Amino acid sequence: MLFLVVAGARPNFIKVAPILEAFASRRCVHNGFEVRLVHTGQHYDRAMSDDFFRDLGIPEPDVNLGVGSGSHAEQTARVMVGFEKVCAEYRPDWVIVVGDVNSTMACAIAAKKLGIRVAHVEAGLRSGDMSMPEEINRVCTDPISDLLFVTDRIAADNLRREGVDVNRVHFVGNTMIDTLQRNLQRALCTSLPEGLEVHQYGVVTIHRPANVDSPVKLAAICESLLEIAEMLPLVFPVHPRTKAQLSAAGLLHKLLDAPVRLIEPLSYLPFLGLVARSKLVLTDSGGIQEETTILGVPCVTVRPNTERPITCIEGTNVLTGTAPAEIKEAVIVALDRKSKGQHSIPEKWDGRAAERIVDTLLRAGNSALCGTA
Ligand code: UD1
Repeated sequence: MLFLVVAGARPNFIKVAPILEAFASRRCVHNGFEVRLVHTGQHYDRAMSDDFFRDLGIPEPDVNLGVGSGSHAEQTARVMVGFEKVCAEYRPDWVIVVGDVNSTMACAIAAKKLGIRVAHVEAGLRSGDMSMPEEINRVCTDPISDLLFVTDRIAADNLRREGVDVNRVHFVGNTMIDTLQRNLQRALCTSLPEGLEVHQYGVVTIHRPANVDSPVKLAAICESLLEIAEMLPLVFPVHPRTKAQLSAAGLLHKLLDAPVRLIEPLSYLPFLGLVARSKLVLTDSGGIQEETTILGVPCVTVRPNTERPITCIEGTNVLTGTAPAEIKEAVIVALDRKSKGQHSIPEKWDGRAAERIVDTLLRAGNSALCGTA
């Protein structure tokens, strides 16, 4: 039995690491399977890719498609063409895709059309916002997947409502949290950027097209950052897309002149260490909403919706628009919730999701699928 595991972009690397580890740990009791890792090359910079492999101990990929950047159609098409060839060569029994990036959808479609079974890890998340490329990727990937691994019961309910057979859906927990738990102690040993003191700074990550490709929204977010930075020093690892847009909008120098420290994107361990010791996070990322929930760090998410509502219901997450007054209000709410201890850890976010996934896959094998939501 051959499993092809796919990873393309930064958040994917964090999710596949524990799955590869769980496969490796099952090898001594079950040796009738092989696992190969395919990197699509959607992210290719050292800071966005290689450093993650190193930090997370992910083995060198067996294949790198090297697709690189492009428009959504170009990137998706390049992944599909490349991955179809890989499937033809390797003839896997299962393709495992994670998350919601372009590589996730592209590989799921290419594999399924070749009659190869597809497992989707982190299925069923829905923001209801079709202007997000990730939402399109999610709704295209889930219905064609043979096994759907969900991080919470809300995601399982979403799939049930969409008519997905419940026998294909497995509530396993969250592989991103598996990785966090395995690496937190090491992350806390990384040094903080000079001058920052534990719990005395905020972390900013903004990279979504909806925020950074609109000069008006980007300017409003920057105005907020300048305001917050008067009370709390901010550190901002800048995604390449954001850097380009800040520069094009003439906003880069404004931030550089204020106590907003702009730094290069960080790899996994220093970034987790930075977030874990911060007082507040301001972000538009998906995964960071989950990581801050586990770490108990107040999180303000600059988005009108989230595909991860459990982080608002049980965790530390507060959504906000881009207007400075809204962001300020959300910061107050998030800090207040923290001080009142109003958050808990979601069910099964216990560091064992990848083991559950791999055990289910090995059980499913070549036979008819079995499972419960
Ligand atoms: C992708 C995912 C997003 C995820 C994010 C994490 C999709 C649709 N989006 O967005 O869900 O939150 O990754 O980072 O798949 N670039 C570089 N070097 C790189 C990679 C990208 O400079 O290694 C630049 C290029 O100019 C590129 C742009 O960043 O065009 C965007 O990269 P892309 O992979 O298309 O999407 P992300 O915005 O990173």
